[in-house]
Amino acid sequence: MAIKIGVFSSNPYDESSIGEQANEEVELSYFSAHLNLQTVPVCQGLDAVCAFVNDDISEDVIAKLAAQGVSHIAMRCAGYNNVDIEAAKKHNIAISHVPSYGPEAVAEHAVALMLTLNRRMHKAYNRVRDGNFNLDGLLGFNMAGKTVGIVGTGQIGQATAKILLGFGCHVLCVDPYPNQELIDAGVKYVDMAALLSQSHIISLHCPLNNDSYHLIDADAIAQMQKGVMLINTSRGGLVDTQALITGLKTHKIGYLGLDVYEMESELFFKDHSFEIIQDDVFERLSSFHNVLITGHQGFFTKEALAQIATTTLLNIKQWHDGTASQSTFLVLPNP
Ligand code: NAI
Repeated sequence: MAIKIGVFSSNPYDESSIGEQANEEVELSYFSAHLNLQTVPVCQGLDAVCAFVNDDISEDVIAKLAAQGVSHIAMRCAGYNNVDIEAAKKHNIAISHVPSYGPEAVAEHAVALMLTLNRRMHKAYNRVRDGNFNLDGLLGFNMAGKTVGIVGTGQIGQATAKILLGFGCHVLCVDPYPNQELIDAGVKYVDMAALLSQSHIISLHCPLNNDSYHLIDADAIAQMQKGVMLINTSRGGLVDTQALITGLKTHKIGYLGLDVYEMESELFFKDHSFEIIQDDVFERLSSFHNVLITGHQGFFTKEALAQIATTTLLNIKQWHDGTASQSTFLVLPNP
């Protein structure tokens, strides 16, 4: 019998990428809604749910899934800050994720944000379309010779550091587990205070958890150089958004590139262009000329989507067959 899977927070590109990799062993139902307490009743009769970054996988939802016979939550992403891992263990629900699907996708997006902000590509594009070839306000700086601080040198942080070393940047890193290959390539591991005070550009690549929540707050911003560029492609909760706004208003932050936002679950991945956006913090943030926000698209490359679909379907099949491996499972109950 086919494995019944409910795919939540689904978009047409999810249907394409998952559908292309699926075979007759699975029966897929796609739901554009987030998985949460309101939508969890539709999971009755499913074997597994496939969830994404803004689904609510709290204890209440997990308990209801377990009561309905769902035994596996397959996250089609790397981060799992929205999953209550302890609750999954308690309710014997397996949790898998996609720890690696080509870190270059997010790393290249982080660097795209840096270059766009630096050379004001977003401004230049509109000016030239408008017949305005004036260069006033478009002055950039050379990346070569600048100091870039990378917070978190896992897969994405490493890929980002390598690109920046190629540009001729000095790369400072913070991570509880320094990476020897990166050290050999030329980066220097320092403490957070040194990274904050010495970097012209700071890029966040660590996971969101209790220790890293609001890692970049008013105190951290106060330690940064005036006019610093801050890039966050990791998770919105790593930064205190109000502190960012203050930092922008006081010119302490000279450039801000965000692919993630603390309250993104109400906004991102949907078309709100004909609505009045009610989130005043987001609206203030996006009103600054030196802020560039993308809607959580760092992962969004053809290669990454294909790899995400392959690993997610493999995780689902392996759990079903009893051959699941520890490496892609965050919770692996005894069958
Ligand atoms: P990873 O697990 O390979 O690396 C994370 C690194 O951060 C590890 O080396 C860890 O030791 C380090 N770390 C943990 N806490 C830290 C702290 N407080 N300070 C400094 N370093 C710390 O994860 P990966 O694949 O590199 O992904 C990083 C993050 O990127 C994910 O947690 C996720 O939130 C985000 N992400 C964003 C995507 C997007 O589309 N924008 C897509 C994929 C991931």
